[in-house]
Amino acid sequence: MATAELAGKHLVLGMTGGIACYKIAELTRLLTKAGATVQVVMTDAATQFITPVTMQALSGRPVYTSQWDARVPNNMAHIDLSREADAIVIAPASTDFLAKLAHGMADDLLSTLCVARDCPLLVVPAMNRQMWQHPATQRNVAQLRADGVQVLGPDSGPQACGEVGDGRMLEAAATYEAIASFFAPKLLAGRRVLLTAGPTFEPLDPVRGITNRSSGKMGFALARAAQQAGAEVHLVAGPVALETPWGVFRQDVQTAQQMHDAVMHAVADADIFIGVAAVADWRVDHASEHKIKKTADRALPSFAFVENPDILASVAKLPHPPFAVGFAAESGDLEVHGEEKRVRKNVPLLIGNLGPLTFGLDDNEVILFEAGGATKLPRADKQTLARALIAEIAKRLPDTSLIR
Ligand code: CTP
Repeated sequence: MATAELAGKHLVLGMTGGIACYKIAELTRLLTKAGATVQVVMTDAATQFITPVTMQALSGRPVYTSQWDARVPNNMAHIDLSREADAIVIAPASTDFLAKLAHGMADDLLSTLCVARDCPLLVVPAMNRQMWQHPATQRNVAQLRADGVQVLGPDSGPQACGEVGDGRMLEAAATYEAIASFFAPKLLAGRRVLLTAGPTFEPLDPVRGITNRSSGKMGFALARAAQQAGAEVHLVAGPVALETPWGVFRQDVQTAQQMHDAVMHAVADADIFIGVAAVADWRVDHASEHKIKKTADRALPSFAFVENPDILASVAKLPHPPFAVGFAAESGDLEVHGEEKRVRKNVPLLIGNLGPLTFGLDDNEVILFEAGGATKLPRADKQTLARALIAEIAKRLPDTSLIR
């Protein structure tokens, strides 16, 4: 999560009854950490699962549970609480509350707020699998979708009742991601983005290999930002220890050749290709099938190397290439190497940074190289930078009709 990604956003977080209420403590923390203000409103049932005191401490604001609460200045809690809201999020959303929403009922503070709102409504269902699958629930959810309500989840898996199936509430982190995605400007709506990220691993034998220090953070941040911008995202990742960004299709590979094959297989469907991976330039010609052992005479092993395919250049060479963006991590003379590399790889845009010095770090400073010249972007954390880069890429895209 980027620092202050939701700065200036005001959310009404409506909690209804369900064991998943415990997840909302963490969700509130994530939302406030990202800069959002969170006004918690709870139904009576929700207060059976977690106390308003806990939610007040986490949100830093008084919690409301009743439409008769005299603390709201003009005694119109059902109107006032949502007036400054950018969205109402109902989490967890119980079977009963979804039914009430679908029918426009307004018999407590939270349901009245939802009917009286003039902002978007997001619901995060949480219930037993049979309650979720019940035709009435499915009808209600379909009605809510038709009314423009965003339905986030539910997840599938083990449930508090011991059963397994659909209906679990999304985890707090996934709910946060879905909310952050909802608010991001849809600069890449309808576009398909293919990215590579992380290092590659070139085996020497079954236990050893050559790799590099790329953490994959920048590529994963770009995949997340592209998803948030409304794109369909396919991320081809080398070996990294990072979670898949929410809503992104991830394909794991090890070697440069596998990364190349995965990209070439998928590229026909892409409008944009972003090569962020630190691809190994060479591999051992014939990796040993067995572990290479020390010999009695202590002879040092020697390896013959062959060059790996250049994925970015292969994409750029296609007869109808997507908008191809390269990355260059240089240890010096970035201004010279960046533009030289962009021309050599034949891409319209290359993003250069002093890579080896920023590998694994959370922030970065980059220069955009393109035919018209070079532009420096301000130093920022990788998530913020990723959003800025996606906006820069979106600005440079040819008209959809001219892309392919
Ligand atoms: N790249 C690629 N396939 C390769 C090598 C690089 O797709 N086999 C892509 C990277 O993902 C990046 C860009 O090319 O987008 C530049 O990578 P870099 O390693 O800086 O380029 P090289 O051509 O390997 O140049 P150098 O000689 O500086 O290593």
